[in-house]
Amino acid sequence: MEFSVSEKYYIKTFGCQMNVYDSSRIADMLKKEGYEETLKQNEADIVLFNTCHIREKAAEKLFSDLGRAHLIQLEREETGKKTIIGVVGCVVQAEDEQIVKRAPFVDFAVGPLMYHTIPDILRRVKKDKKHQCEIKTDFPAISKFDYLPENTAKGACSFLAIQEGCNNFCTYCVVPYTRGAEYSRPIKEVLEEARRLVKTGTLEINLLGQNVNSYHGEDENGQERDLAYLLHKIAEIDGLKRIRYTTSYPADMSDNLIACHKDIEILMPYLHLPVQSGSDRILKAMNRRHNSSDYLRAVEKLKIANPMIGMSSDFIVGFPGETDEDFQKTLDIVNEVKYIQAFSFKYSRRAGTPAAVMDNQVEEKVKKERLDILQTLLFDYQTKFNQNCIGKVMPVLLEQKGRHKGQLIGRTPYMQNLHVETKSDNMNKIINVEVVESTTNSLSGKEISNG
Ligand code: SAH
Ligand code: SF4
Ligand code: F3S
Repeated sequence: MEFSVSEKYYIKTFGCQMNVYDSSRIADMLKKEGYEETLKQNEADIVLFNTCHIREKAAEKLFSDLGRAHLIQLEREETGKKTIIGVVGCVVQAEDEQIVKRAPFVDFAVGPLMYHTIPDILRRVKKDKKHQCEIKTDFPAISKFDYLPENTAKGACSFLAIQEGCNNFCTYCVVPYTRGAEYSRPIKEVLEEARRLVKTGTLEINLLGQNVNSYHGEDENGQERDLAYLLHKIAEIDGLKRIRYTTSYPADMSDNLIACHKDIEILMPYLHLPVQSGSDRILKAMNRRHNSSDYLRAVEKLKIANPMIGMSSDFIVGFPGETDEDFQKTLDIVNEVKYIQAFSFKYSRRAGTPAAVMDNQVEEKVKKERLDILQTLLFDYQTKFNQNCIGKVMPVLLEQKGRHKGQLIGRTPYMQNLHVETKSDNMNKIINVEVVESTTNSLSGKEISNG
Protein backbone atom coordinates (compact mmCIF):
# COMPACT_ATOMS: atom_id res chain seq x y z
CA MET A 1 0.00 0.00 0.00
CA GLU A 2 1.44 3.39 -1.00
CA PHE A 3 0.97 6.92 0.22
CA SER A 4 0.00 9.57 -2.30
CA VAL A 5 2.74 12.04 -3.36
CA SER A 6 1.66 14.82 -1.11
CA GLU A 7 0.18 13.29 1.99
CA LYS A 8 -2.83 14.99 3.47
CA TYR A 9 -4.04 15.32 7.02
CA TYR A 10 -7.47 16.08 8.43
CA ILE A 11 -8.05 17.22 12.01
CA LYS A 12 -11.39 17.30 13.76
CA THR A 13 -11.40 19.28 17.00
CA PHE A 14 -13.77 18.86 19.94
CA GLY A 15 -13.88 20.83 23.17
CA CYS A 16 -12.47 24.10 24.37
CA GLN A 17 -10.39 26.87 22.82
CA MET A 18 -7.27 25.23 24.19
CA ASN A 19 -8.01 22.27 21.94
CA VAL A 20 -8.49 24.63 18.97
CA TYR A 21 -5.07 26.10 19.75
CA ASP A 22 -3.52 22.62 20.16
CA SER A 23 -4.94 21.52 16.80
CA SER A 24 -3.38 24.52 15.11
CA ARG A 25 -0.02 23.69 16.73
CA ILE A 26 -0.35 20.06 15.59
CA ALA A 27 -1.05 21.42 12.10
CA ASP A 28 2.13 23.55 12.35
CA MET A 29 4.14 20.38 13.05
CA LEU A 30 2.54 18.39 10.25
CA LYS A 31 3.03 21.20 7.71
CA LYS A 32 6.69 21.39 8.71
CA GLU A 33 6.95 17.66 7.98
CA GLY A 34 5.57 18.29 4.47
CA TYR A 35 1.97 17.22 4.98
CA GLU A 36 -0.86 19.24 3.49
CA GLU A 37 -4.17 20.04 5.19
CA THR A 38 -7.48 18.84 3.77
CA LEU A 39 -10.98 19.61 4.97
CA LYS A 40 -12.29 16.39 3.39
CA GLN A 41 -11.88 13.43 5.66
CA ASN A 42 -12.17 10.89 2.83
CA GLU A 43 -9.11 12.22 1.02
CA ALA A 44 -6.91 12.32 4.13
CA ASP A 45 -3.98 9.95 4.60
CA ILE A 46 -3.87 10.92 8.26
CA VAL A 47 -7.06 11.49 10.24
CA LEU A 48 -6.75 13.02 13.68
CA PHE A 49 -9.37 13.57 16.35
CA ASN A 50 -8.49 16.09 19.05
CA THR A 51 -10.84 15.14 21.83
CA CYS A 52 -12.65 16.49 24.88
CA HIS A 53 -13.66 14.59 28.03
CA ILE A 54 -15.43 17.35 29.94
CA ARG A 55 -18.96 15.94 29.68
CA GLU A 56 -20.18 12.49 28.73
CA LYS A 57 -21.73 13.63 25.44
CA ALA A 58 -18.47 15.16 24.23
CA ALA A 59 -16.55 11.94 24.87
CA GLU A 60 -19.20 9.62 23.37
CA LYS A 61 -19.31 11.64 20.16
CA LEU A 62 -15.70 10.60 19.54
CA PHE A 63 -16.55 6.92 19.30
CA SER A 64 -19.26 7.49 16.69
CA ASP A 65 -16.81 9.60 14.68
CA LEU A 66 -14.16 6.92 15.01
CA GLY A 67 -16.61 4.32 13.66
CA ARG A 68 -17.18 6.51 10.60
CA ALA A 69 -13.46 7.03 10.15
CA HIS A 70 -12.95 3.27 10.20
CA LEU A 71 -15.48 2.79 7.39
CA ILE A 72 -13.68 5.40 5.30
CA GLN A 73 -10.37 3.71 6.12
CA LEU A 74 -11.72 0.39 4.81
CA GLU A 75 -13.15 2.01 1.64
CA ARG A 76 -9.85 3.71 0.89
CA GLU A 77 -8.00 0.44 1.50
CA GLU A 78 -9.98 -1.11 -1.38
CA THR A 79 -8.45 1.47 -3.72
CA GLY A 80 -4.95 0.82 -2.32
CA LYS A 81 -4.79 3.84 -0.04
CA LYS A 82 -3.67 3.62 3.55
CA THR A 83 -5.23 5.81 6.24
CA ILE A 84 -3.59 6.42 9.59
CA ILE A 85 -6.05 7.21 12.40
CA GLY A 86 -4.85 9.01 15.51
CA VAL A 87 -6.62 10.24 18.63
CA VAL A 88 -5.23 13.17 20.60
CA GLY A 89 -6.35 15.14 23.64
CA CYS A 90 -8.24 14.78 26.89
CA VAL A 91 -10.18 11.57 26.12
CA VAL A 92 -6.87 9.79 25.57
CA GLN A 93 -5.55 10.94 28.92
CA ALA A 94 -8.70 9.77 30.66
CA GLU A 95 -9.45 6.53 28.81
CA ASP A 96 -5.95 5.38 27.99
CA GLU A 97 -6.04 1.76 26.71
CA GLN A 98 -9.84 1.73 26.67
CA ILE A 99 -9.65 3.62 23.40
CA VAL A 100 -7.85 0.78 21.65
CA LYS A 101 -10.20 -1.75 23.21
CA ARG A 102 -13.20 0.10 21.79
CA ALA A 103 -11.52 1.12 18.52
CA PRO A 104 -8.73 -1.38 17.72
CA PHE A 105 -8.11 0.22 14.30
CA VAL A 106 -6.63 3.36 15.90
CA ASP A 107 -2.90 3.68 15.08
CA PHE A 108 -1.91 5.98 17.91
CA ALA A 109 -3.35 7.85 20.87
CA VAL A 110 -1.57 10.74 22.59
CA GLY A 111 -2.58 12.82 25.57
CA PRO A 112 -2.70 16.64 25.42
CA LEU A 113 0.79 17.07 26.87
CA MET A 114 2.48 14.67 24.46
CA TYR A 115 1.37 15.79 21.01
CA HIS A 116 4.85 16.99 20.08
CA THR A 117 5.68 13.28 19.59
CA ILE A 118 3.22 12.88 16.68
CA PRO A 119 5.76 13.34 13.81
CA ASP A 120 7.99 10.55 15.20
CA ILE A 121 5.03 8.28 15.80
CA LEU A 122 3.88 8.83 12.20
CA ARG A 123 7.32 7.81 10.93
CA ARG A 124 7.12 4.59 12.94
CA VAL A 125 3.56 3.80 11.86
CA LYS A 126 4.52 4.21 8.21
CA LYS A 127 7.70 2.13 8.46
CA ASP A 128 6.33 -0.76 10.45
CA LYS A 129 3.53 -2.67 8.70
CA LYS A 130 2.61 -4.46 11.93
CA HIS A 131 2.75 -1.31 14.03
CA GLN A 132 0.93 -1.70 17.33
CA CYS A 133 -1.14 1.23 18.53
CA GLU A 134 1.14 3.60 20.43
CA ILE A 135 -0.37 5.24 23.50
CA LYS A 136 1.36 8.18 25.14
CA THR A 137 -0.18 9.63 28.25
CA ASP A 138 2.82 10.78 30.31
CA PHE A 139 2.95 14.17 31.95
CA PRO A 140 6.44 15.05 30.68
CA ALA A 141 9.04 16.88 32.77
CA ILE A 142 9.88 19.17 29.85
CA SER A 143 7.10 21.26 28.39
CA LYS A 144 5.80 20.27 24.95
CA PHE A 145 6.04 23.95 24.00
CA ASP A 146 9.85 23.55 23.90
CA TYR A 147 9.50 21.07 21.03
CA LEU A 148 6.92 22.80 18.88
CA PRO A 149 7.79 24.71 15.70
CA GLU A 150 6.81 28.38 15.34
CA ASN A 151 3.14 29.23 15.55
CA THR A 152 2.22 29.94 11.93
CA ALA A 153 -1.42 30.98 12.49
CA LYS A 154 -2.33 33.66 9.96
CA GLY A 155 -5.78 35.03 10.81
CA ALA A 156 -6.52 38.41 12.36
CA CYS A 157 -7.62 36.72 15.61
CA SER A 158 -5.20 34.31 17.22
CA PHE A 159 -5.16 32.14 20.30
CA LEU A 160 -2.01 31.99 22.36
CA ALA A 161 -1.72 29.41 25.14
CA ILE A 162 0.15 30.89 28.10
CA GLN A 163 -0.88 28.48 30.83
CA GLU A 164 -1.99 24.90 30.93
CA GLY A 165 -3.38 22.48 33.49
CA CYS A 166 -5.20 23.17 36.71
CA ASN A 167 -4.61 22.67 40.44
CA ASN A 168 -8.10 23.61 41.53
CA PHE A 169 -9.73 20.19 41.51
CA CYS A 170 -13.35 21.30 41.33
CA THR A 171 -15.12 18.09 42.37
CA TYR A 172 -17.01 17.70 39.06
CA CYS A 173 -14.14 18.37 36.67
CA VAL A 174 -11.74 16.14 34.73
CA VAL A 175 -9.30 18.87 33.64
CA PRO A 176 -6.75 18.47 36.49
CA TYR A 177 -6.55 14.77 35.52
CA THR A 178 -6.43 15.23 31.75
CA ARG A 179 -4.20 18.32 31.55
CA GLY A 180 -2.16 17.79 34.72
CA ALA A 181 -0.76 20.37 37.10
CA GLU A 182 -0.68 24.07 36.32
CA TYR A 183 2.18 25.19 34.12
CA SER A 184 2.90 28.77 32.98
CA ARG A 185 5.03 29.43 29.91
CA PRO A 186 7.91 31.88 30.47
CA ILE A 187 7.26 35.56 29.67
CA LYS A 188 9.90 35.68 26.92
CA GLU A 189 8.44 32.69 25.07
CA VAL A 190 4.93 34.18 25.21
CA LEU A 191 6.10 37.61 24.02
CA GLU A 192 8.05 36.08 21.14
CA GLU A 193 5.02 34.13 20.00
CA ALA A 194 2.79 37.23 20.37
CA ARG A 195 5.18 39.40 18.31
CA ARG A 196 5.39 36.78 15.57
CA LEU A 197 1.61 36.59 15.42
CA VAL A 198 1.26 40.36 15.13
CA LYS A 199 3.93 40.46 12.43
CA THR A 200 1.93 37.99 10.32
CA GLY A 201 -1.32 39.93 10.61
CA THR A 202 -2.86 39.22 13.98
CA LEU A 203 -4.87 42.16 15.34
CA GLU A 204 -6.44 40.34 18.26
CA ILE A 205 -4.73 37.94 20.66
CA ASN A 206 -6.71 35.76 23.02
CA LEU A 207 -4.47 34.48 25.82
CA LEU A 208 -5.52 31.00 26.82
CA GLY A 209 -5.29 28.84 29.89
CA GLN A 210 -7.58 26.48 31.81
CA ASN A 211 -7.05 28.84 34.70
CA VAL A 212 -5.43 31.72 32.86
CA ASN A 213 -5.50 34.29 35.65
CA SER A 214 -3.34 32.11 37.88
CA TYR A 215 -0.56 32.69 35.32
CA HIS A 216 2.85 32.98 37.00
CA GLY A 217 5.49 32.71 34.27
CA GLU A 218 9.14 33.48 34.86
CA ASP A 219 10.79 36.53 33.35
CA GLU A 220 14.40 36.54 32.13
CA ASN A 221 15.71 37.06 35.65
CA GLY A 222 13.85 34.05 36.94
CA GLN A 223 11.30 36.23 38.73
CA GLU A 224 7.68 35.07 38.64
CA ARG A 225 5.33 37.54 36.95
CA ASP A 226 1.55 37.61 37.00
CA LEU A 227 -1.01 37.97 34.24
CA ALA A 228 -1.32 41.72 34.84
CA TYR A 229 2.41 42.15 34.09
CA LEU A 230 2.12 40.01 30.96
CA LEU A 231 -0.93 41.93 29.71
CA HIS A 232 0.95 45.24 30.01
CA LYS A 233 3.90 43.79 28.06
CA ILE A 234 1.68 42.40 25.33
CA ALA A 235 -0.22 45.68 25.07
CA GLU A 236 3.08 47.37 24.12
CA ILE A 237 3.36 45.35 20.89
CA ASP A 238 3.03 47.73 17.97
CA GLY A 239 0.13 46.92 15.66
CA LEU A 240 -1.85 44.83 18.15
CA LYS A 241 -5.40 46.18 18.48
CA ARG A 242 -7.19 43.84 20.87
CA ILE A 243 -6.36 41.58 23.81
CA ARG A 244 -8.56 39.04 25.57
CA TYR A 245 -7.82 36.33 28.11
CA THR A 246 -9.82 33.24 28.97
CA THR A 247 -10.78 31.31 31.18
CA SER A 248 -10.46 32.96 34.55
CA TYR A 249 -11.03 31.51 37.99
CA PRO A 250 -12.99 33.95 40.21
CA ALA A 251 -10.79 33.53 43.32
CA ASP A 252 -7.71 34.50 41.27
CA MET A 253 -9.11 37.85 40.03
CA SER A 254 -6.43 39.97 41.72
CA ASP A 255 -6.73 43.74 42.11
CA ASN A 256 -3.72 44.10 39.79
CA LEU A 257 -5.52 42.19 37.11
CA ILE A 258 -8.77 44.09 37.64
CA ALA A 259 -6.83 47.37 37.26
CA CYS A 260 -5.73 46.25 33.77
CA HIS A 261 -9.36 46.68 32.71
CA LYS A 262 -8.98 50.37 33.50
CA ASP A 263 -5.38 50.90 32.38
CA ILE A 264 -5.05 48.87 29.18
CA GLU A 265 -7.08 50.43 26.44
CA ILE A 266 -6.86 47.49 24.04
CA LEU A 267 -8.05 44.98 26.65
CA MET A 268 -11.58 44.20 25.45
CA PRO A 269 -14.49 45.13 27.77
CA TYR A 270 -15.69 41.54 28.05
CA LEU A 271 -14.79 38.91 30.62
CA HIS A 272 -15.66 35.24 30.88
CA LEU A 273 -15.70 34.55 34.61
CA PRO A 274 -17.45 31.25 35.36
CA VAL A 275 -19.41 31.22 38.61
CA GLN A 276 -20.94 27.71 38.10
CA SER A 277 -23.62 28.17 40.80
CA GLY A 278 -25.12 30.97 42.90
CA SER A 279 -25.48 28.76 46.00
CA ASP A 280 -22.66 28.92 48.56
CA ARG A 281 -23.49 25.42 49.75
CA ILE A 282 -23.10 24.02 46.25
CA LEU A 283 -19.99 26.11 45.53
CA LYS A 284 -18.44 24.56 48.63
CA ALA A 285 -19.40 21.04 47.53
CA MET A 286 -17.90 21.87 44.14
CA ASN A 287 -14.66 22.86 45.93
CA ARG A 288 -14.68 26.28 44.31
CA ARG A 289 -12.57 28.76 46.30
CA HIS A 290 -15.16 31.54 45.98
CA ASN A 291 -18.61 32.08 47.40
CA SER A 292 -21.33 34.15 45.77
CA SER A 293 -20.41 37.38 47.58
CA ASP A 294 -16.69 37.05 46.66
CA TYR A 295 -17.80 36.64 43.09
CA LEU A 296 -20.16 39.62 43.14
CA ARG A 297 -17.46 41.75 44.72
CA ALA A 298 -15.04 40.88 41.90
CA VAL A 299 -17.71 41.78 39.32
CA GLU A 300 -18.39 45.08 41.06
CA LYS A 301 -14.68 45.98 41.08
CA LEU A 302 -14.45 45.08 37.40
CA LYS A 303 -17.40 47.35 36.64
CA ILE A 304 -15.76 50.18 38.54
CA ALA A 305 -12.49 49.60 36.64
CA ASN A 306 -14.37 49.63 33.33
CA PRO A 307 -18.07 50.58 33.44
CA MET A 308 -18.45 49.28 29.88
CA ILE A 309 -17.49 45.71 30.79
CA GLY A 310 -19.86 42.86 29.86
CA MET A 311 -19.74 39.62 31.83
CA SER A 312 -20.07 36.04 30.70
CA SER A 313 -20.11 32.79 32.70
CA ASP A 314 -20.46 29.02 32.77
CA PHE A 315 -23.15 27.36 34.87
CA ILE A 316 -23.74 23.80 35.99
CA VAL A 317 -27.26 22.79 37.04
CA GLY A 318 -28.13 19.63 38.97
CA PHE A 319 -24.84 19.23 40.78
CA PRO A 320 -25.28 16.46 43.43
CA GLY A 321 -27.41 17.74 46.30
CA GLU A 322 -28.68 20.85 44.46
CA THR A 323 -32.12 21.73 45.83
CA ASP A 324 -34.74 24.08 44.33
CA GLU A 325 -33.51 26.68 46.79
CA ASP A 326 -29.90 26.31 45.61
CA PHE A 327 -31.03 26.56 42.02
CA GLN A 328 -33.01 29.72 42.82
CA LYS A 329 -29.74 31.27 44.04
CA THR A 330 -28.21 30.58 40.65
CA LEU A 331 -31.12 32.44 39.04
CA ASP A 332 -30.60 35.24 41.56
CA ILE A 333 -26.97 35.71 40.61
CA VAL A 334 -27.93 35.82 36.93
CA ASN A 335 -30.45 38.56 37.74
CA GLU A 336 -27.78 40.43 39.67
CA VAL A 337 -24.94 40.26 37.12
CA LYS A 338 -27.10 40.37 33.97
CA TYR A 339 -24.71 38.34 31.86
CA ILE A 340 -24.41 39.37 28.25
CA GLN A 341 -23.56 35.82 27.23
CA ALA A 342 -23.23 32.45 28.98
CA PHE A 343 -22.80 28.69 28.68
CA SER A 344 -24.89 26.38 30.83
CA PHE A 345 -24.75 22.62 31.27
CA LYS A 346 -26.46 19.79 33.07
CA TYR A 347 -24.08 18.23 35.57
CA SER A 348 -22.41 15.23 33.93
CA ARG A 349 -21.00 12.46 36.09
CA ARG A 350 -17.33 11.91 35.24
CA ALA A 351 -15.62 8.75 36.45
CA GLY A 352 -12.70 9.43 38.76
CA THR A 353 -13.98 12.78 40.03
CA PRO A 354 -15.22 13.12 43.65
CA ALA A 355 -18.71 14.34 42.65
CA ALA A 356 -19.34 11.22 40.56
CA VAL A 357 -19.56 9.09 43.71
CA MET A 358 -21.60 11.54 45.79
CA ASP A 359 -24.80 9.74 46.79
CA ASN A 360 -27.20 12.65 46.31
CA GLN A 361 -27.25 12.74 42.50
CA VAL A 362 -30.03 14.84 40.95
CA GLU A 363 -32.57 13.19 38.66
CA GLU A 364 -32.09 13.75 34.93
CA LYS A 365 -35.63 15.15 34.61
CA VAL A 366 -34.94 17.80 37.27
CA LYS A 367 -31.63 18.73 35.63
CA LYS A 368 -33.40 19.22 32.34
CA GLU A 369 -36.13 21.38 33.86
CA ARG A 370 -33.59 23.57 35.62
CA LEU A 371 -31.45 23.92 32.51
CA ASP A 372 -34.48 25.06 30.49
CA ILE A 373 -35.40 27.68 33.11
CA LEU A 374 -31.82 28.95 33.40
CA GLN A 375 -31.29 29.12 29.66
CA THR A 376 -34.52 31.03 29.12
CA LEU A 377 -33.36 33.63 31.65
CA LEU A 378 -29.83 33.81 30.21
CA PHE A 379 -31.12 34.17 26.64
CA ASP A 380 -33.40 36.92 27.82
CA TYR A 381 -30.49 39.00 29.16
CA GLN A 382 -28.40 38.24 26.10
CA THR A 383 -31.24 39.29 23.78
CA LYS A 384 -31.79 42.50 25.76
CA PHE A 385 -28.09 43.35 25.66
CA ASN A 386 -28.02 42.82 21.91
CA GLN A 387 -31.17 44.96 21.46
CA ASN A 388 -29.53 47.75 23.43
CA CYS A 389 -26.67 47.75 20.95
CA ILE A 390 -28.99 48.99 18.18
CA GLY A 391 -28.00 52.51 17.15
CA LYS A 392 -24.50 52.20 18.66
CA VAL A 393 -21.33 52.34 16.57
CA MET A 394 -18.97 49.47 17.26
CA PRO A 395 -15.51 48.57 15.97
CA VAL A 396 -15.82 45.17 14.31
CA LEU A 397 -12.96 42.85 13.42
CA LEU A 398 -14.01 41.12 10.20
CA GLU A 399 -13.05 37.45 10.18
CA GLN A 400 -15.14 35.52 7.67
CA LYS A 401 -17.34 35.71 4.61
CA GLY A 402 -21.07 35.98 5.16
CA ARG A 403 -23.71 33.88 3.44
CA HIS A 404 -24.68 36.70 1.06
CA LYS A 405 -22.44 38.26 -1.57
CA GLY A 406 -20.69 41.38 -0.31
CA GLN A 407 -21.30 40.43 3.31
CA LEU A 408 -18.61 39.84 5.92
CA ILE A 409 -18.94 38.62 9.50
CA GLY A 410 -16.89 39.95 12.36
CA ARG A 411 -16.78 40.28 16.09
CA THR A 412 -17.61 43.26 18.25
CA PRO A 413 -15.59 43.99 21.44
CA TYR A 414 -18.28 41.95 23.27
CA MET A 415 -17.67 38.85 21.11
CA GLN A 416 -21.02 39.25 19.35
CA ASN A 417 -21.11 38.08 15.75
CA LEU A 418 -21.96 40.98 13.48
CA HIS A 419 -22.94 40.81 9.78
CA VAL A 420 -22.20 43.79 7.57
CA GLU A 421 -22.11 44.63 3.87
CA THR A 422 -18.66 45.87 3.01
CA LYS A 423 -15.91 45.42 0.42
CA SER A 424 -14.06 42.11 0.59
CA ASP A 425 -10.75 43.98 1.07
CA ASN A 426 -11.90 44.71 4.59
CA MET A 427 -11.46 41.06 5.57
CA ASN A 428 -9.11 40.84 8.59
CA LYS A 429 -9.55 44.54 9.29
CA ILE A 430 -11.42 46.52 11.92
CA ILE A 431 -14.18 48.78 10.63
CA ASN A 432 -16.76 50.90 12.44
CA VAL A 433 -20.31 49.66 12.12
CA GLU A 434 -23.60 51.11 13.28
CA VAL A 435 -25.75 48.30 14.68
CA VAL A 436 -29.13 48.17 12.91
CA GLU A 437 -30.63 44.82 13.90
CA SER A 438 -30.18 42.23 16.62
CA THR A 439 -31.16 38.67 17.56
CA THR A 440 -30.16 36.55 20.57
CA ASN A 441 -27.08 35.31 18.77
CA SER A 442 -25.98 38.01 16.37
CA LEU A 443 -26.12 41.59 15.17
CA SER A 444 -26.14 43.24 11.79
CA GLY A 445 -25.27 46.77 10.85
CA LYS A 446 -24.06 49.28 8.32
CA GLU A 447 -20.51 50.41 7.77
CA ILE A 448 -19.72 53.92 9.02
CA SER A 449 -16.10 54.44 8.06
CA ASN A 450 -12.83 52.56 8.01
CA GLY A 451 -11.42 52.40 11.53
N1 SAH B 1 -11.36 26.33 33.86
C1 SAH B 1 -12.63 26.79 33.61
C2 SAH B 1 -13.59 25.83 32.95
C3 SAH B 1 -13.14 24.63 32.22
S1 SAH B 1 -14.34 23.47 31.75
C4 SAH B 1 -13.25 27.25 34.94
O1 SAH B 1 -12.79 26.93 35.98
O2 SAH B 1 -14.25 27.89 34.89
C5 SAH B 1 -15.60 24.43 31.00
C6 SAH B 1 -16.92 24.35 31.69
O3 SAH B 1 -17.46 23.06 31.58
C7 SAH B 1 -16.89 24.61 33.18
O4 SAH B 1 -16.85 25.95 33.47
C8 SAH B 1 -18.14 23.95 33.66
O5 SAH B 1 -19.24 24.83 33.63
C9 SAH B 1 -18.37 22.85 32.63
N2 SAH B 1 -18.12 21.53 33.21
C10 SAH B 1 -16.97 21.02 33.66
N3 SAH B 1 -17.16 19.78 34.16
C11 SAH B 1 -18.48 19.51 34.03
C12 SAH B 1 -19.30 18.39 34.38
N4 SAH B 1 -18.81 17.32 34.98
N5 SAH B 1 -20.61 18.48 34.08
C13 SAH B 1 -21.14 19.57 33.48
N6 SAH B 1 -20.42 20.64 33.14
C14 SAH B 1 -19.10 20.62 33.42
FE1 SF4 C 1 -11.96 22.39 36.04
FE2 SF4 C 1 -12.26 23.84 38.20
FE3 SF4 C 1 -9.89 23.69 37.03
FE4 SF4 C 1 -11.86 25.02 35.85
S1 SF4 C 1 -10.90 25.53 37.79
S2 SF4 C 1 -10.48 23.56 34.89
S3 SF4 C 1 -13.65 23.83 36.40
S4 SF4 C 1 -10.95 22.01 38.04
FE1 F3S D 1 -12.39 19.38 27.05
FE2 F3S D 1 -9.89 19.01 27.70
FE3 F3S D 1 -10.76 21.40 27.05
S1 F3S D 1 -11.63 18.03 28.61
S2 F3S D 1 -12.86 21.38 27.72
S3 F3S D 1 -10.66 19.67 25.72
S4 F3S D 1 -9.23 20.92 28.56
